[in-house]
Amino acid sequence: AQFVSTKFILIMGMTIGIGRDYALAFAARGASVVVNDLGGDMKGGGRGTMAADKVVEEIRAKGGKAVPNYDSVEEGEKLVQTALENFGRIDIVVNNAGILRDRSFARISDQDWDLIHRVHLRGSFQVTRAAWPHMKKNKYGRIIMVTSAAGIYGNFGQANYSAAKLGVHGMANTLAIEGKKDNIKVNTVAPMAGSRMTETVMPPDVVQTLKPEYVAPLVLYLTHDSCEESGSLFEVGGGWIGKLRWERTIGATCRTKDKPMTPEDVRENWDKITDFTDATHPTTSTESTGHMLNVIQTIEKGGSKKQRSTSSRGIDPDQAINQKMKPTTFTFTNKEVILYALGIGVSTQQEDYLKFLFELSDDFCVIPSFAVIPGFSAMGDGLVGGIPGLNVDPTKMLIHGELYKPFPTSGTLTSRGTIVDVLDKGSGAVILMDVEIFNEKKEKIAYNQFSTFIVGAGKFGGKRSSDKARNTANPPSRAPDASMSEKTSIDQAALYRLSGDRNPLHIDPSFAAMGGFDKPILHGLCSYGYATRHVMKTYCDNDVSKIKAIKVRFAKPVLPGQTLQTDMWKEGSRVFFQCKVNNLLNLSQYLDSDKYHGYNRQ
Ligand code: NAI
Repeated sequence: AQFVSTKFILIMGMTIGIGRDYALAFAARGASVVVNDLGGDMKGGGRGTMAADKVVEEIRAKGGKAVPNYDSVEEGEKLVQTALENFGRIDIVVNNAGILRDRSFARISDQDWDLIHRVHLRGSFQVTRAAWPHMKKNKYGRIIMVTSAAGIYGNFGQANYSAAKLGVHGMANTLAIEGKKDNIKVNTVAPMAGSRMTETVMPPDVVQTLKPEYVAPLVLYLTHDSCEESGSLFEVGGGWIGKLRWERTIGATCRTKDKPMTPEDVRENWDKITDFTDATHPTTSTESTGHMLNVIQTIEKGGSKKQRSTSSRGIDPDQAINQKMKPTTFTFTNKEVILYALGIGVSTQQEDYLKFLFELSDDFCVIPSFAVIPGFSAMGDGLVGGIPGLNVDPTKMLIHGELYKPFPTSGTLTSRGTIVDVLDKGSGAVILMDVEIFNEKKEKIAYNQFSTFIVGAGKFGGKRSSDKARNTANPPSRAPDASMSEKTSIDQAALYRLSGDRNPLHIDPSFAAMGGFDKPILHGLCSYGYATRHVMKTYCDNDVSKIKAIKVRFAKPVLPGQTLQTDMWKEGSRVFFQCKVNNLLNLSQYLDSDKYHGYNRQ
């Protein structure tokens, strides 16, 4: 099917070279176009109305909709105003305006530097910033930044231009993250086309074949509402299009605990630092910082720089399977039990709260999902301490818990973790870890299995599935037999974290932003607690002894303050459940972040 962009109104920083082609191509597909051009010369001098007017006339002659604008892109507000005044909306921005002031580095003047930055980098910023609030309000936006091979690879005589051109791509990377929740997609293209900018450096027959019309189709595709691509970089020219990404070596840890790091340590590891075998392709800054935090943790725990990494070479199933983790102990009193209950939403507003919140009540008891608290700390210590450079994907986590005896309300528990299998899922490895929990009398009271997905650690030639894995079951296809909704508190994560998982992702906005979240998210294990309570209340009369096993798969994050809805299906003595975010006050947000649990009660 043809792309038709009738809903689009577009603004762009120019009109002759490639810009003219963008304008004509968009108009031909039904977009209303603001044709902006300062009409100056290639070095940023002069101005005029001819350039924009000519393209506008061309579009109108073909029956398209266009208006001219003669301001510099540095006055972004005025450009956007033209779109709003004439069309009432702004959906697309193509930041195409450009000039050149080539000089070898030593001869670049302040003016050569500043003018280039003002048009390319500051101009792209000004126009985009002016359009941004309108796109956010409309929950729709498509933005193109225009970079250049000179920025990506460097080019003699273009230090000023290279810096500004890679600058716009850096801006696009962040805008893609900030625009995500409002359906604003931001991509960067590096075109190659014959124009007045290229005809000075290329033979005429080459300039002829690199037609601007071979660039515009990519820009039209990337700005269409069916296109989900965002935060990407493309090279395009002569009919060919390719995508670029970052590549990172496995690298080397050049430091050991309590010893200074020296240039000699770097030299000794240079081959490893620069060896692209088994390289990874990080796409977020969290992948980058997360990796480093794990390395630091490993070093601080005394892991040596000779330790294996999780590269496809680093995972050795034969060595890992049946590996026993150092047992961990967990001492707790009724205070931890009560704090956990509050953390998963028990409240004095509920009928049965005394048995969960008051240690002197006759039937004071522990909510069964509490079993993950000692188990989780054992798993965390075991995994992070054992293998450096872990990059865990929390959305692919599975937890299975079984309870053999009522959970004590205080005491010291010992958790013993064993890696039971390591699976090769291609894009990553899955580590299956069993954690058994024993009471002071050495009786086994609970068992958990954690299935953890380690990004980028696959392709080591291992098997894909395991008979040891406890899989989730899908609920029946009929409408749920029962449902229960409950609003979490805005401070739910702040409260839940006191039960053990103090990852800053759940409290510190700057850390959450690094993970690509708008604000700190709720702990997956907190909604797990809510769902357990909902099932217990609906089918077990709030009797904790009736829950024998819980199995969940985590899907998407929940924000504190959102309402959790647990849908339940009863089949014999097993209850299936799905837990999702149900927040009628903020419909769009909840569509974006519903949550799913599969559940078995055996
Ligand atoms: P061009 O020189 O033919 O077009 C540039 C346009 O920008 C002109 O219409 C000019 O009047 C306009 N302009 C300059 N300063 C302006 C300002 N302050 N406000 C509004 N408009 C302004 O150049 P071409 O080759 O079509 O390049 C378009 C874009 O593609 C530029 O950003 C350039 O850096 C980039 N590019 C082009 C390549 C090529 O092979 N042609 C290679 C790599 C990047």
